[in-house]
Amino acid sequence: MSFQSTILKLLAASILCGGITAGAALLVSAPHAQDAAPSAVSPPGMLSTVEVPFYAEWIGSPHARRAAEPFNHWNKEGAIPVGCARCHSTPGFLDYLGADGTVPGVVDHPAPVGTVITCVACHNTKARALTSVTFPSGLTVQNQGADARCMACHQGVESTSNVNKAIANLDDDKVEPKLQFINVHYAAAGAMLFGTMARVGYEYPGKIYIGRFQHREPYNRCTACHETHTTAIKFNDCAACHREVVDKTSLHKIRVSRDDRDGNNDISEGVAQEIDHLRERLLAAITAYAKTVAGKPIVYEIDAYPYFFVDTNANGVADKDEARFPNRYNAWTPRLLKAAYNYQFITKDRGAFAHNPTYAVELLYDSINDLGAKVSVDLVKAKRP
Ligand code: HEC
Ligand code: HEC
Ligand code: HEC
Ligand code: HEC
Ligand code: HEC
Repeated sequence: MSFQSTILKLLAASILCGGITAGAALLVSAPHAQDAAPSAVSPPGMLSTVEVPFYAEWIGSPHARRAAEPFNHWNKEGAIPVGCARCHSTPGFLDYLGADGTVPGVVDHPAPVGTVITCVACHNTKARALTSVTFPSGLTVQNQGADARCMACHQGVESTSNVNKAIANLDDDKVEPKLQFINVHYAAAGAMLFGTMARVGYEYPGKIYIGRFQHREPYNRCTACHETHTTAIKFNDCAACHREVVDKTSLHKIRVSRDDRDGNNDISEGVAQEIDHLRERLLAAITAYAKTVAGKPIVYEIDAYPYFFVDTNANGVADKDEARFPNRYNAWTPRLLKAAYNYQFITKDRGAFAHNPTYAVELLYDSINDLGAKVSVDLVKAKRP
């Protein structure tokens, strides 16, 4: 406890003295929520009463949510494995950046449990210099400024090429017992934003996909739409151009385009709603395909890993006793896997409509259409962008 508050004072002093250095001395865990922000710190020779800038914003943010699952998942094991540490801890991120003196771009060591994403994770010389992002596909984008920090973590862990590797040389419609669901991993916002420049959605061969979402500047950047330290959407900014936005719950009403993406003849509904309608149709197609082609009914449960389960009583609902890991869906065909992958990519990103609506619509359309080779699907009047 006192160690932590000492560290926080050190940190504040270091910010105030004009910069934060990375290194073991500042490799800290966050103060517990009950630790009040130090309102008075007195580094030698400096101001006597100061507040840590942005502490209040940060401590209320998801990055400081000390009790949240993403920061406690490994407590029993006692360490966060190298494959997870980069995005789920401060020491792991410093390791990834090379701010701990190790090689940049890789995590060399498991990280201790008990940290969140603290000030030093984002503020150190290596983090500051980071302006490029390498996505799970291996594709890289340059010159992203401060957003590169966000995207180093918010990018998912799978890609088109990983899915293709898993299904190589398999018959598209034959159940393959060795196949398992491939999970892109939560909201891969950065990958959504960059579309085919990141290739994290499953892109069907022969189709053309959009690259970065070309939104009016500067609102095509993480830190323009999201407040940097709270991560909240700056909905007042949006309202300046999108009059339908009156509070944060009305963001999903935003619409500019006159294209009827879901083919329901309604061009006043929000782009988020158009995406939702296509998602519903994709899930219906997945369900029909699983039943008739894979021969085993499927259900989806957004909050239970690994999300797709056997619908044992075929009632179309993920019942409590069904949405459990041992009952995970196990009759995957390549065609089903690709569609389910995209369904998850778009469903898990609640901001997909703002991150890259066209990419989301293209992936949904192509997934529905691909299942349509085997089952009747509802794409009546929808037109691919
Ligand atoms: C490239 C970064 C990255 C890697 C690597 C990564 N994660 Fe995550 N993970 C995230 C982000 C970001 C979130 C939160 C995203 C959100 O809420 O939108 C998250 C969320 C989670 C959650 C969510 C828990 C909940 O219910 O909210 C779990 C569990 C999790 N990750 C486990 C893992 C495991 C296990 C590994 C290693 C095998 C891993 N992660 C690797 C970035 C990553
Ligand atoms: C998730 C990453 C992240 C975390 C965590 C974070 N920051 Fe920041 N912060 C940024 C980014 C990005 C900027 C804008 C670019 C820059 O100045 O590096 C920024 C800017 C700042 C600035 C300069 C603001 C200005 O107006 O010039 C200060 C000071 C600052 N942060 C302090 C902190 C402190 C203190 C904490 C912890 C209480 C913290 N930050 C946590 C990402 C983060
Ligand atoms: C070191 C990894 C890391 C970095 C860097 C990072 N994040 Fe996160 N972020 C996470 C994790 C892990 C979570 C999940 C935390 C939780 O559930 O409380 C998260 C949560 C979020 C959430 C809330 C997601 C939800 O499901 O509600 C938003 C929004 C977000 N981050 C935006 C940003 C932005 C913007 C930046 C850049 C300024 C950024 N993040 C930088 C790891 C990171
Ligand atoms: C055009 C504005 C815009 C841009 C640019 C943007 N976001 Fe978002 N983001 C949103 C909106 C709107 C939401 C949905 C918020 C809601 O539903 O409350 C969102 C949601 C999120 C979420 C939470 C998703 C979830 O399922 O809970 C994360 C994480 C996130 N954004 C990260 C990022 C990152 C990282 C970047 C940069 C690569 C970024 N965003 C760029 C507007 C934007
Ligand atoms: C300066 C004006 C301006 C601001 C501010 C602005 N936008 Fe936009 N937005 C536009 C324009 C113009 C378009 C149409 C695409 C284009 O030309 O950039 C658009 C398109 C969109 C779309 C896609 C709509 C569709 O029908 O495809 C979404 C979603 C969106 N903006 C979300 C946001 C969010 C969220 C914010 C606030 C964080 C925001 N915008 C702030 C001008 C703005």
